[in-house]
Amino acid sequence: MEDHIVFHRDSAVLDLLDQRKLPASEERFLCRTTADVITALQVMVVRGAPAIGVSAAFGCAIALRESAGPDWREKLRKHLADLRAARPTAVNLAWAVDHMTALWEKNASLAPEDLMKLFISEAETMRRADIASCMAIGRFGLPCVHDNDVILTHCNAGALATAGYGTALGVVRAAFENRKNIRVIADETRPFLQGARLTAWELQQDGIPVTVACDNACASLMSRGFVSLCVVGADRIAANGDTANKIGTLGVAILARHYGIPFYVAAPLSTIDRSTPDGKHIPIEERPASEVTTIGSTRVTPEGVPVFNFAFDVTPADLITGIITDKGLLTAPYDAAIRDVFAREEQ
Ligand code: MRU
Repeated sequence: MEDHIVFHRDSAVLDLLDQRKLPASEERFLCRTTADVITALQVMVVRGAPAIGVSAAFGCAIALRESAGPDWREKLRKHLADLRAARPTAVNLAWAVDHMTALWEKNASLAPEDLMKLFISEAETMRRADIASCMAIGRFGLPCVHDNDVILTHCNAGALATAGYGTALGVVRAAFENRKNIRVIADETRPFLQGARLTAWELQQDGIPVTVACDNACASLMSRGFVSLCVVGADRIAANGDTANKIGTLGVAILARHYGIPFYVAAPLSTIDRSTPDGKHIPIEERPASEVTTIGSTRVTPEGVPVFNFAFDVTPADLITGIITDKGLLTAPYDAAIRDVFAREEQ
């Protein structure tokens, strides 16, 4: 699945599959302005770190078009800053906007029409590169998956969360395509239900066996031998390997360690933020209380009772068996492994 993020070049419209509506209906959400793109990111029409990055890259083209006029440079700078700040945890957002900004700086003398062509072609390149990265993650993850594995995943790190194929679900897809006999347990992932709605939906479409479990069933399932492997995605990996991912991931990692189950993180290098030294420095998004206090339109907590709605948690590096990247499998010590993989890339 690659048509969940479509950019119409002629009209400069970003056309997104509205992930809030899945699996009940497949509706599109059209972004014509920077504000539309920011809304789509914030209300999670599109979500998942790499998908956020690719959508924001197209958002930069929309921002440029919207900035027409004599003071287009100032307007564009403001739009890009607003876009970059739409969600704080997934580093792919800042990474994508910074990448487009650097491209603009390198081509500062270009007229807006020519910069527009450059922005669109760069965003298209990013989209293709992200799919290729996910497929590479799948290949590098293959040795981590064994025949008859039951793979527990948290949230949705699939095609919907990337430009296509997925990171954690890229590993699952590659194993399935290589005829390994596997099954997936999708944590339902309260409160937005990325697992129950999105992971279950996309795996079912591909005919990959999937069972949904309540988040609070994880310990019991592991203790009863239902889970042999965990693979999750990441929103930001710090320089020491500490990994931010959807709230609940930390609990899965602690339980996996307790029950001796391998716990892998799957993510492209663009999710590694070397400027963040460790997990304590990763900003954690807090989302509206209403996501917790209501289910559908039904209120499930008494009026006036406060709730926690931290969207992410941080799994310390020492709970991670390996980080499956698009450039290979990284193992502890992660600070050295991360330094080395970037050094090789930057040669
Ligand atoms: O709030 P979300 O749905 O954007 O959170 C997504 C996740 O936590 C994913 O696991 C992560 O972005 C990896 S996506 C390949």
